[in-house]
Amino acid sequence: MVGQTMRIKCPHCENPVEIVVGVTDATVSTVAALDRPGAGPGPDREIEVVTCPLCGSSISVFESELTKTYREQALSSIGRFELVEHLGSGHFGDVWQATDTKLQRQVALKVPRQRDLLPEDLVSFLREAKAAAQLKHPNIVRVHDIVEANGLVCIVSELVRGPNLSEWKSGKILTWVDCARLCATLAKAVQHAHDAGIIHRDLKPANVLMDLENQPHVTDFGLAKREGAEITMTLAGQIIGTPAYMSPEQARGDGHNADRRSDVYSLGVILYELLTGSRPFKGTSKMLLIHQVLTEDPRQPRAICKSIPKDLQTVCLKALEKDPDRRYQTAGELAADLDRFLAGQPILARPINPIERGLRWVRRNRTVAGLIGLLTLSCSVALGALIFPRSAPVFTRTVQISANQPNAHIAFIPLDSKSGEPLPEQITEQTMAGGSPVTFQLPPGDYLVVAYSGDAATTDEFHEVVRHVPDIDERSDRSSYRHLRRKTTDSGRVILGDVEIFKTSDVAAGLAQIPECEDFEMGSLRLEEAPAHRRSVPGFYLQTTEVTLGAVLSVADWDLPEQLLPDSIPADFPLTNVRYDYAVGYAERRGLRLPDEAEYEVAATHCGKRETPWGGNLADINDWNIGPVMQSPDFDVVHFDRDVWGLYSNAAEWTSTWGVNYPEYSDLTPAFPPQHMRVVRGGAPRAISDPRFPDSVRGQRADQIQLWQRGPRSREFVAVAAPLPGLGFRCARSLHPRLRAKDFGSIRTSK
Ligand code: ADE
Repeated sequence: MVGQTMRIKCPHCENPVEIVVGVTDATVSTVAALDRPGAGPGPDREIEVVTCPLCGSSISVFESELTKTYREQALSSIGRFELVEHLGSGHFGDVWQATDTKLQRQVALKVPRQRDLLPEDLVSFLREAKAAAQLKHPNIVRVHDIVEANGLVCIVSELVRGPNLSEWKSGKILTWVDCARLCATLAKAVQHAHDAGIIHRDLKPANVLMDLENQPHVTDFGLAKREGAEITMTLAGQIIGTPAYMSPEQARGDGHNADRRSDVYSLGVILYELLTGSRPFKGTSKMLLIHQVLTEDPRQPRAICKSIPKDLQTVCLKALEKDPDRRYQTAGELAADLDRFLAGQPILARPINPIERGLRWVRRNRTVAGLIGLLTLSCSVALGALIFPRSAPVFTRTVQISANQPNAHIAFIPLDSKSGEPLPEQITEQTMAGGSPVTFQLPPGDYLVVAYSGDAATTDEFHEVVRHVPDIDERSDRSSYRHLRRKTTDSGRVILGDVEIFKTSDVAAGLAQIPECEDFEMGSLRLEEAPAHRRSVPGFYLQTTEVTLGAVLSVADWDLPEQLLPDSIPADFPLTNVRYDYAVGYAERRGLRLPDEAEYEVAATHCGKRETPWGGNLADINDWNIGPVMQSPDFDVVHFDRDVWGLYSNAAEWTSTWGVNYPEYSDLTPAFPPQHMRVVRGGAPRAISDPRFPDSVRGQRADQIQLWQRGPRSREFVAVAAPLPGLGFRCARSLHPRLRAKDFGSIRTSK
């Protein structure tokens, strides 16, 4: 193969750099002024890492064998599409003007670099492309079709005859009104895509095509696929994901967590560039640029051009806030403020005052700030916050849910995003009218959903379940568990799993009633459980044993997890080795819920009256095996209106409490974020040593079994997705639907 010289532009300093592709030998050395660290020459390379000789930044260059192949074959058509003109290269591959011979129209044909896609990536690529194909907006390039031809999967889209925004604006003099209007139009188009659940993640002038009427059209929705801050280039020299337009969260490498507010940031960069003619950050190397994006405030646009209107500067800087929570929360809000500016009305964004700007600088540069007197600045900060309070706009989703009774009341109680604790003061409630689902506007997050019929104070017909309202970039979940199941419609409406209301007398008949415990000292005695704190715990029902294999098998239409064959344990043994979601799903199906850790501890200690039911200490149980419920050590019984078994021994048990450390232990970092872990309580020491377990289970993961030698006063965090031998569950139910703060009890003191 003969080496081919390509000229690309360094994304940082714009210096032209030549590289040779397809070389077989020392031809590499003919590359002009090119240094190739760590990338030995050879024909098989798909990504070249080259160093710009001028600014020293590393540039990754994608070489698409596949793209090359069809180019080398000089294909003049792909399927029914005759290639007319090569329009350019995007990060996904090449774009051609082509004639659709079937429909006799000109289209843009995008041929992705499929060699870079793993089969599962191809599936997700296609899914995203298909989602983007649903978008119908005058300022979004319409995706007509996704076709397979000549072994290539191609995207057929509307052909926009005109330059991209970057080419269009060069040599033009735009008024401030032109800039604001253009950016508002883009922001509305982006909001439309967000409403449909699609985030761009790579908004930049090259992805905005200007038509002959000077109207913008955003292209490549749903196609951005990048990890973190990596900068890559196509063979033809187009930059993939220059950090110049990336939000700080993307530049930090959190690209997969970046949400719709990253697009708001990129719109801010585009506005800044339209207003000032330069980008907010222009680092001469990748590292410097990323450092600036993460730590520096952009220069005020009016410092570059004095005549920029103050309000337009304020809007632009708000879109460019480093902290996503301080930005416009939606592209629609950005558009609305730009429209206010255009209509001569006051904008909602407030300029950042110098005190606050100073404070933020302090936060980002703590060490330096320390030298110049943190104290003085902190005072100014507090003052600044008092004088200029901010109320962050809240992004909400349209959420639909229904229950199985025609006039059911449905209430959503948010769970605190850090601790998972219910926030009943933020409850929202609606009533279904004659069976039609109800619609809520809710911020993304986790919720306790309480559905009931009749009067809240007296009814015994209700259910309490958990539901998750996904953020805009979270996918639908088609799980068989109702608490996970959710669907997003084309218009962006989220449909959650419906709720089945149960009568307490039907589902709590065999459960023990644990009375209210008004003043309970939790976690006092054992070191690992520190610190002690006092709390009130309302009464509740609790199953008298762990859920057994037999109980699970007796529920119609309820599956055993795959790894648990019916004969793997005897039917009267606790069902263990199940994930948290399985336990929650089972409880929901039975009209029950899982207890939280306070409820577990209250029941086990008889509201703190006895440390162990037998009056001895935990060491006494060291030799107990996991075994049939209601038989294993008969002194592990707490007496309520019914006897409750196995809170100390037998299986350890899932509780619904999130894996959050007590503040004193906050330096111990759990392996996963709190919402992905739950507190596990109780448990037997030799969970799987019982000879009745089959060999495949016995002796497995013995290290993890050690976890359960703790008893009910101690807490362990276990990842929700981890089914462990010896870890089972039991269910609870509230006495009444919990809707007010007092229904949840409270922490009374921290000591
Ligand atoms: N370049 C990238 N996408 C295009 C399109 N849809 N029309 C024209 N040129 C393009």
